[in-house]
Amino acid sequence: MAEPGPPLATLLVADDDPAVRQSLERTLTREGYAVVLAPDGQAALERLQEGGIDLVLSDLKMPGLTGLELLREAKAVAPDVDVILLTAFGTVEEAVRAMKDGATDFLTKPFQRAQLTKVVRQALERRDLIAQNRALQKRLDDLLRQGNMIGTSPAFRRLMTLVQQVADSSATVLVQGESGTGKELVARAIHDRSSRRNGPFIAVNCAALPETLLESELFGYEKGAFTGAAGRKEGRFELADGGTLFLDEIADLSAVTQPKILRVLQEGEFERVGGTKTSRVDVRIVTATNQDLATLVRDRRFREDLFYRLNVITIQVPPLREKHEDVPVLAQHFLRVYAAKNNRQLDGFSDEALGCLEAYSWPGNVRELENVVERAVVLARGARVDAGDLPDAVRERPVMLMRGGTPGPGATVVPEGVFQIRVGTPLAEVEARLLEETLRLNHGNKTLTAKMLGIDPKTVFRKLKQGEAEDGVP
Ligand SMILES: Nc1ncnc2c1ncn2[C@@H]1O[C@H](COP(=O)(O)OP(=O)(O)OP(=O)(O)O)[C@@H](O)[C@H]1O
Ligand SMILES: [Mg+2]
Repeated sequence: MAEPGPPLATLLVADDDPAVRQSLERTLTREGYAVVLAPDGQAALERLQEGGIDLVLSDLKMPGLTGLELLREAKAVAPDVDVILLTAFGTVEEAVRAMKDGATDFLTKPFQRAQLTKVVRQALERRDLIAQNRALQKRLDDLLRQGNMIGTSPAFRRLMTLVQQVADSSATVLVQGESGTGKELVARAIHDRSSRRNGPFIAVNCAALPETLLESELFGYEKGAFTGAAGRKEGRFELADGGTLFLDEIADLSAVTQPKILRVLQEGEFERVGGTKTSRVDVRIVTATNQDLATLVRDRRFREDLFYRLNVITIQVPPLREKHEDVPVLAQHFLRVYAAKNNRQLDGFSDEALGCLEAYSWPGNVRELENVVERAVVLARGARVDAGDLPDAVRERPVMLMRGGTPGPGATVVPEGVFQIRVGTPLAEVEARLLEETLRLNHGNKTLTAKMLGIDPKTVFRKLKQGEAEDGVP
């Protein structure tokens, strides 16, 4: 005889009637399931808490804990385990209530063997589907978020490749980029991917503290170093030993602090404020700024020697407008985060809202997008975020002005329904593009297009004719 395979699933059967228990056990075991029996609700709950149960079949009327009570308690201790209720004729109303309370299905006694196996199979299939769905969602999330950073655009991938490449060296990295582009996240990503990942990641904002406080924050101080220094205190350099020290807003370092940082970078040494003993640390330095350090060096506001020390590797974090594909991905991510935080059930964005987000130029970059989505989540009244939930500035679409550049055929069509015009683009061209894009948006419907543009349909026809005639000129 062939060895029986592993059981298909483990089912917990709770019924106070021994005859019912036996009959269920016989049928379900024959189907290949492992069956665990419980004579009442309390025993069933205890067994459920031990784990390893895939599905519960419970009688509705039992002494002690009833089926309904068991259902409720089961949802609390094992929310992923489905419960099928077995009801006697005449308690169907209660069974319906049980469905509302989260029962997966119910069977009215007496039931046929085929009915039983069908209900069990369906419940287990449903459970597998949910588990598969969750696993897929998680894989998708993992794919989208590289560590803690999210994006799919080519520019984002290039950024993450660079992060990966520099992570394992101990070279000093300067992270540059506009405000809100994710410089701090990049610094963390470098640390998380480096061999120092189990060491500390310590961040200091150089712009947040006045000069003297910043120095004692960075280097620590000895007892009595200044009024109020009651004991000695370790500085951030010491705290970061074996890890990464992130110096944010590095352009704001004062002329007095700059050489002290330079010395740590060159010699790995420093003294605590008010101290004479030299300390040594093994720290990898990552710095960030949204200013152009090279310009500050030229203007003699930042030491050249320090600049070269900090700038061994530069990572330029692109602004969001150069990573347009990431906008919907990030928006969806922030929607999920803030919906969960605010206990809101939101499905996503309406097409119009998404269009607005994609068309906007995001001067405040990812931080601005995050704030806009958070606000929208709070304001949204429907099942989705609608354009009306977005700030006016984001809703004003879709013409973007680009600074600089030359007029002419360089004007490109960006995401659907949006085009860029540069300062100096001839009006006739703007008009033609606008007409073309609006027509496309309305799938060629001229009446709708006219309505949207606030002109007479006849004008649309005339302008199109005119365009065709011009195109026809050899
Ligand atoms: N790729 C990304 N994926 C997910 N979240 C991001 C991403 N980039 C930025 N963020 C989020 O955007 C916000 C701003 O990021 P961060 O603080 O790193 O920007 P920054 O460049 O340091 O800005 P600032 O120059 O103003 O200090 C943070 O909440 C961050 O979590
Ligand atoms: Mg920052």
